[in-house]
Amino acid sequence: MRTSLWAALIPVIFAALAFSTATAEETAAGQSDTGAEAAAHEGPAYSRRGADTCLGCHDDVAVTNIFMTAHGQPSDSRSPFGAGQLQCEACHGPGGAHVKLPKRGERRASMPYWGHESTASDAEHSQMCLTCHDKHVGLQWAGSTHDVEDVNCGECHNPHAATDPVLKTNLQAMVCYECHIEQKADENKPYVHPIADRRMACTACHAPHGSAADHLLVRNTTNETCYTCHQDKRGPLLWEHAPVTEDCGYCHRPHGSVHPALLTQRPPLLCQSCHSQAGHPSVAYGPGGLADGNPSSYLLGGSCLNCHSQVHGSNHPSGVNLSR
Ligand code: HEC
Ligand code: HEC
Ligand code: HEC
Ligand code: HEC
Ligand code: HEC
Ligand code: HEC
Ligand code: HEC
Ligand code: HEC
Ligand code: HEC
Ligand code: HEC
Repeated sequence: MRTSLWAALIPVIFAALAFSTATAEETAAGQSDTGAEAAAHEGPAYSRRGADTCLGCHDDVAVTNIFMTAHGQPSDSRSPFGAGQLQCEACHGPGGAHVKLPKRGERRASMPYWGHESTASDAEHSQMCLTCHDKHVGLQWAGSTHDVEDVNCGECHNPHAATDPVLKTNLQAMVCYECHIEQKADENKPYVHPIADRRMACTACHAPHGSAADHLLVRNTTNETCYTCHQDKRGPLLWEHAPVTEDCGYCHRPHGSVHPALLTQRPPLLCQSCHSQAGHPSVAYGPGGLADGNPSSYLLGGSCLNCHSQVHGSNHPSGVNLSR
């Protein structure tokens, strides 16, 4: 895919800004020598001219946008394009075989990582990134759900995008939804967190690289996670409602619900899933229905909430029944 000359020139301009003394080509060539030569001691499988070789064929913006990102900074010695680094091959692995003209009738040899026929496992793919990101990301990653489930770094991250979508609040969910279709469906329900209009990211509640908590939550429990925003529900309260202090998930679905306030089901059914339908033995109301066969006044309208309005707990001296 060839694109406009200007698009192809963008990385050149960026590199030139960083290295005003040399043209981009010379710069890249100079560096690839250091990187590739260092690698050459280990084996001949790296390309000889590093990124210069690659860019000769891969000059479309979908690839060269990398020079607009943290990874494409020649002035940062830690980046793949920093002095002495392996450039494209820092992530894609040795490309010596790939750059060779394929034999007649044969396909071009694949790049070892993120190539069209890479045979490396997902863990091996991720290891390429972890050679640089071992400290921060690696500690959480090892043994995390996504690691164990064979999701590799490149399935969420696109280092070739000018801005990696998964790092943006408004674009992140679409990346996750490629695999998490259940949550995608939840988003279309009438009651949702502001994830649906992209003002909130999955990472408000989840740590995708790994977490000590169940469900990759950012805090130790569901409740601790919810309290980061809904502080008013934290308590301690004079009269607590046991399920609320235990797990908000008994009554709420964080990803979306067909019931108001993200409820798992509507009152009175919600309440009656735990509380006996037999009702209020100590209250003077009869258990029977109203006139004309209407149900009990306990079940009408806001039902239980008509009286027990403080469902999350109460600080009122006589709030023992969560009614004030
Ligand atoms: C920081 C790591 C990293 C560096 C450096 C890097 N790549 Fe990539 N590249 C990736 C990952 C990860 C993918 C897969 C992205 C995806 O599937 O969304 C990829 C995909 C590609 C693709 C396939 C794009 C497509 O979908 O059509 C090409 C071609 C490519 N890279 C070439 C290069 C070249 C050439 C360089 C050097 C200029 C380079 N890469 C540098 C990580 C890197
Ligand atoms: C002589 C041209 C040429 C050079 C040089 C070259 N490539 Fe490629 N590359 C190709 C072609 C053609 C394909 C598509 C291969 C196919 O589909 O069979 C490809 C595919 C890829 C892919 C996989 C993209 C996909 O769609 O699956 C990656 C990654 C890649 N190249 C990276 C590199 C890197 C890194 C270098 C430098 C070390 C490099 N290439 C050098 C021609 C080249
Ligand atoms: C040669 C070392 C190196 C390799 C290999 C490498 N990175 Fe990086 N990465 C860096 C550096 C350096 C930064 C900039 C960090 C900073 O500024 O603190 C960075 C930044 C990032 C960021 C943050 C970008 C931002 O805009 O904030 C992400 C995400 C990332 N890398 C993912 C990856 C993934 C995924 C891979 C493998 C496909 C990978 N990295 C491979 C060195 C590397
Ligand atoms: C399930 C998707 C997913 C996978 C897989 C994934 N990441 Fe990330 N990564 C993210 C998200 C989302 C963020 C943004 C975190 C935030 O905003 O709190 C991120 C952020 C980062 C950052 C920026 C620094 C930071 O932590 O904020 C780096 C570096 C990074 N990832 C590297 C990696 C590496 C290396 C791997 C593979 C070992 C990897 N990621 C695998 C989703 C993923
Ligand atoms: C390439 C596919 C893929 C992508 C992309 C992906 N995931 Fe996952 N994720 C999985 C698989 C597979 C599992 C394990 C099975 C399951 O629970 O669905 C999983 C599990 C999870 C879990 C449950 C963890 C647990 O231990 O119960 C959470 C939370 C999660 N992913 C969040 C995210 C977020 C947030 C993103 C985007 C930043 C994301 N995932 C992107 C494949 C993916
Ligand atoms: C408001 C907090 C919150 C947000 C935002 C959020 N989640 Fe969750 N997620 C949770 C909680 C809490 C759980 C624990 C189990 C439950 O209640 O479903 C969970 C569970 C999951 C699971 C595991 C489900 C299972 O059945 O094991 C996946 C997968 C998941 N979330 C993906 C996502 C994705 C993708 C996004 C972004 C689109 C996202 N979540 C946004 C709170 C959140
Ligand atoms: C990152 C902040 C954040 C986190 C974490 C969070 N929420 Fe929310 N929550 C919000 C915002 C913002 C709204 C929308 C408020 C509005 O529209 O007025 C909301 C709305 C709600 C509503 C619906 C309110 C209504 O009037 O319909 C419920 C219920 C809710 N959250 C429960 C939870 C639960 C349970 C958790 C933990 C799994 C949680 N939230 C975690 C920010 C958060
Ligand atoms: C026993 C069931 C139950 C549990 C457990 C529960 N809630 Fe609720 N929640 C409700 C009901 C019922 C409503 C609707 C109240 C109404 O319509 O007045 C509600 C409404 C909300 C609202 C929107 C109205 C408001 O009061 O701000 C938020 C936010 C909320 N809950 C957060 C939480 C959080 C956070 C937790 C965990 C600490 C939690 N809930 C635990 C039943 C519950
Ligand atoms: C997940 C189960 C569960 C759900 C759902 C639930 N409750 Fe409760 N509720 C409890 C438990 C457990 C107690 C504590 C009983 C005790 O201490 O003997 C309690 C106590 C109460 C009390 C009495 C306060 C006290 O300490 O004696 C009232 C009133 C109450 N709940 C109302 C409601 C209403 C109204 C709803 C629906 C909005 C509801 N509950 C939903 C489990 C639940
Ligand atoms: C018309 C007002 C009203 C409605 C509606 C109502 N309650 Fe009550 N409820 C009360 C009063 C008043 C008490 C206190 C009774 C007492 O102290 O003996 C009470 C007490 C309770 C208790 C405390 C334990 C007990 O039996 O003494 C529970 C649990 C309870 N209600 C659950 C519910 C549920 C579930 C619903 C919905 C199906 C509901 N209530 C609807 C007025 C109401």
